[in-house]
Amino acid sequence: MQEKDWSEEHLKKMIVEQRKHMWRDDTIEMYSKWMGLRQGMTVVDVGCGLGYLGWTFWKFFGDSGEYCGVDQSVSLLEEARSISEDWAHGGKASFQQGDAYELPFPDNFADWTMCQTLLMHLEFPEKALAEMVRVTKPGGLITCNEPDNISASGRVVHFSGMEISDEHIIQNHKMMLIWARGRKKLGHGDYSIAVKIPMMMHDLGLVEIDSRCNDTCNFVQPPYETPRQKNILEMTKKSFDEDEENNKRWQQEYREFFLAGGGSLSSFYRHKKRNDSTREEFRQVHKDQVENGTWHCCWGASSFFCIKGRKIQS
Ligand SMILES: C[S@@+](CC[C@H](N)C(=O)[O-])C[C@H]1O[C@@H](n2cnc3c(N)ncnc32)[C@H](O)[C@@H]1O
Repeated sequence: MQEKDWSEEHLKKMIVEQRKHMWRDDTIEMYSKWMGLRQGMTVVDVGCGLGYLGWTFWKFFGDSGEYCGVDQSVSLLEEARSISEDWAHGGKASFQQGDAYELPFPDNFADWTMCQTLLMHLEFPEKALAEMVRVTKPGGLITCNEPDNISASGRVVHFSGMEISDEHIIQNHKMMLIWARGRKKLGHGDYSIAVKIPMMMHDLGLVEIDSRCNDTCNFVQPPYETPRQKNILEMTKKSFDEDEENNKRWQQEYREFFLAGGGSLSSFYRHKKRNDSTREEFRQVHKDQVENGTWHCCWGASSFFCIKGRKIQS
């Protein structure tokens, strides 16, 4: 299996853009109470990337606290270290290279061990979760922010000036199920891992298991009042100037996973033709609306979860 290198420009860009408005401030505040965060905690972030979870939760644990980011990518860690100079005040932030399957910490090290969009990319998520439990102190907290992207693919989207047919939604969802099966089979992880984590935590002996879902409703409409909507509008504008290289890369990966999931070449090409023509229609209908500020779109819930559990007191 060819592993993804998240420091590659197109992947890093995706992480940065998606995280600009991923969780709302008041949701994070509510979660910090729900998780029982306190100042001075020692925190491990597995697959930390640029350290997003660190700066997001810092004000709830960072006063005399310690954040330890671990990632396999040396180049992301370097960048994360440099960014942390802007947010890790009053406590300590460190970054080290390490493997989620073999964390570079002793047993019972952290008060809180967390990850975000890591388990969804791993071939053996249970093994990584077991490592997260190992390095957490008895009574300590384990949290996983992970999606259920397969369910999200079947949702109804409401656009200005264009109807997506029921048949299109059903076909898309069916293709997604096959694609995700292939993705998993090839060792790239479970695209709907979030719905399995509560039981994984139970099997690892965790207690106080609970799960919440990101409460953001995804919509954008004039007059584009919130920073989030402004950002979506900007990204949609950019998407009209398609990056051919990027598109080719996604198409290749799509085909590989779809075939591995048991899909046939003929249905892949049928689907591709239908999707290409929908994308072209989308471009034609929406480009002007986006330019003249009349575009609207609502695609509902985000299917992004935060699952928590506690290591039993020995
Ligand atoms: C989608 S990114 C998420 C980054 C960060 N958690 C965030 O939410 O911004 C996944 C990260 O996991 C890291 N990763 C993937 N497999 C890993 C492994 N086996 N051990 C350590 N890190 C890993 C990647 O390098 C990447 O930075």
